[in-house]
Amino acid sequence: MSEIDRALHEDWHPIAALNELEKTTIQERCLLGKSLILWRDGDRVAVWENRCPHRGAKLSGATVTGDRLVCPYHGLHYDRAGQCVFIPAHPDLKPPDRLHVRSYPCQIHYDLIWVNLSKNNVPIPEFREWNDPNYRKFLCGPYVYESSGFRAIENFLDVSHFPFVHDGLLGDRDRPRVEEYTIDRDRDGLKLNNVGVWQPDPDGTGSGGRVTYDYSVSRPLTASFVKHASGGKLAIFFTVCPTAEEACVGWMWIAMNYGQNLPEAELRAFQDRVVRQDLPIVASQHPKRLPLDLKAEIHLPCDRASIAYRQWLRELNIRFGTLW
Ligand code: FES
Ligand code: CO
Repeated sequence: MSEIDRALHEDWHPIAALNELEKTTIQERCLLGKSLILWRDGDRVAVWENRCPHRGAKLSGATVTGDRLVCPYHGLHYDRAGQCVFIPAHPDLKPPDRLHVRSYPCQIHYDLIWVNLSKNNVPIPEFREWNDPNYRKFLCGPYVYESSGFRAIENFLDVSHFPFVHDGLLGDRDRPRVEEYTIDRDRDGLKLNNVGVWQPDPDGTGSGGRVTYDYSVSRPLTASFVKHASGGKLAIFFTVCPTAEEACVGWMWIAMNYGQNLPEAELRAFQDRVVRQDLPIVASQHPKRLPLDLKAEIHLPCDRASIAYRQWLRELNIRFGTLW
C-alpha cells in the first residue's frame, strides 16, 4: 500500500448524509472499493462490512428486527455491536464469539456520517463556518463524479475553467484572465491566497464584479474556500468520499453571511447547476486518476494551485505515478 493509500485508509470519509438514512433502514455504500452497510437505529448509526461472517452473504439484504440485524441467508441475528446472538437452526446454541461482523468507526459531523477504515484517530476535517451564527448554511450533494476524488478536488481548486464551463454563472468568456495569486503551505495543508476572477453576479445583486477566493486544502480529499465579494462572504466546504479508484461522491456545505432572504431552493439549484456542468468535464479527463508525475500534463501559470496540490500529494511519499 502506498503512503497516499495509507493516508486515505487512515482518514475519515463522508459516506452518507444523515438525512439519507431513514430510521432503521439499511444502506449499502462503497468506500475505497470496500462494500459497507450503514444502519441507523434511533440516534445511533453503525457501519459494518457488507458481509455475513457465516457464509459471506451480503448484509445489505438483511432485515432489522428490534435492535437486531437478521442475515437474509440463514437468518442469523446480530446485535448492534455486530455479535451474532441467535442462530435459528440451533436455537439452544450460544453463538461463538467469532461470529462477529466487522465494524468500522463512524462519527456524525456536519450532518454527514464519517467513516474510518482504520482505528486511527485523526480528527474530522474542520469546517470553520459551522459554528458561526453569522452564516446561513445548507448542504448540497451527493454529487457523483465518474472520476477519482483527486480530480474532483483539483477541479474545485481551478478557477480558470469558470469562464468556459460556468460561463454566465461563475465566469464570463470575455473576461477569462486569472490574476496572480500566492500559495502557502504549512502543517495544516495548502492555502491559496487571493485568487482573483471576474464574475457576472457574485453576490446575487445582479451586477458583475471582481471577487477573490481564499482556498485551503486540509486533507487529500477535503478543501474549502471563502469567496469575498462586495456583498459578503460565501464559503464552501467540499469533501469527497472515494468510493473506488475512479469514482467518488462529493458533498458541499455552503455557508454565506449575506442573502438571508434568498430561498434555499434557489441557492441549491444554482449549486446543482454549477456541479452538473463540472461532472461531464471531470469525467472526460483521461486518465481518471490524477497524474502525480508533473511531466504527465502541461501546466500554465494559472495552474499553480493544481501543481501545488499534486506536489503536496506526492510528498505523502507516493511511489506510483497515479493514485486513487
Ligand atoms: Fe448469513 Fe448464513 S450467510 S446467516
Ligand atoms: Co467548476
